Amino acid sequence: MNTQVRITDVAPRDGLQAETTIVATDRKANLVRALHATHVDEIEVSSFVSPKWIPQLGDAKELFAMIAAEKPQGIIYSALVPNQRGLQGALAVNAHARQEHGVERLIDKVSVFTAASEGFSLKNTNATIEETLIRFAPVIDQAHHHGLMVRGYISCIVRCPFDADISPVQVANVASRLLDLGIDELDLGDTIGAATPETLEPVIMEVVDRLEGNATNPFGDPTLTVHLHDTFGHASECVKMALELGVRSFDSAAGGLGGCPYASTETSRAPGNLSTLQLLHTITEMGYSTKVDLDAMAAASKIASELLP
Ligand code: HMG
Ligand code: MG
Repeated sequence: MNTQVRITDVAPRDGLQAETTIVATDRKANLVRALHATHVDEIEVSSFVSPKWIPQLGDAKELFAMIAAEKPQGIIYSALVPNQRGLQGALAVNAHARQEHGVERLIDKVSVFTAASEGFSLKNTNATIEETLIRFAPVIDQAHHHGLMVRGYISCIVRCPFDADISPVQVANVASRLLDLGIDELDLGDTIGAATPETLEPVIMEVVDRLEGNATNPFGDPTLTVHLHDTFGHASECVKMALELGVRSFDSAAGGLGGCPYASTETSRAPGNLSTLQLLHTITEMGYSTKVDLDAMAAASKIASELLP
């Protein structure tokens, strides 16, 4: 049995995108540097989205330029792109890093994002699910043309703050569409931390069915990733269940930072991502392993926590 689990730390992106404080670029760079030392598999560094929508990440280009010469071997850098404009931003960063630092490919992966619910899709991207998928088709093709991997996120896989409960079939239908468009990795997001093992299991089962046995993508990594938020304290139980179902890739955030701005309602703010240290603890407790250095992750988590007031 494969006991190796892949970890993507999303703190610099998902951790900071919803904060009222806009963190200075050099402090974000320090967090990314601290994550280098952890040997995490992937760092989701930032997003190439509209700065009118997410001003917190409006410095993506500057941040990548700041760390371009320091990227270690073996760590993947990824960034969110909602449309072709976003992909152009990522490609421009790569061209600059190649020219200035001789880095073959600074950003290795771009992530497109849609939702299982129409309400969330509209609030998050001003587009229906169908419209987001139409936008993604050329983005995915062009990303592949430039040798980039593509992750496809589905938000609100269990519950939506606007449309209530989501059926597993609905999630699997969106998953099928993304897989048909050619994504290399499917990321299931429990955006508001509503999942319990009982509600998450049928979603994973339904989606795994649509993967048709493709547990590994052409890059040799797991095709399915699970992205949990720990709102009601169920994330660790969900990780245990997902591991038992065969999931071998998870997202988490150093310091448990973050949440999604459009997952909040007027009365309740979307809470943090599952903390990476907590995830590592659960994985080890279950007898699985990762490449991550625990002491280095503790140090990175401290730096992450100190970024916000
Ligand atoms: P729109 O307003 O419908 O589109 O936004 P638009 O085409 O009219 O663009 C508005 C302005 O943004 C224009 O500028 C565009 O040029 C510009 P203006 O002409 O007014 O000066 N623009 C851009 N600028 C920079 N980069 C771009 C870009 N595109 C347009 N890529 C849009 C549509 C999709 C752009 C907008 O809704 C958007 O950026 N949304 C991003 C929202 C976001 O980042 N949400 C958080 C990520 S999802 C999440 O956190 C969930 C996840 O963690 C999983 C989980 O937890 O479940 C992934
Ligand atoms: Mg998230």
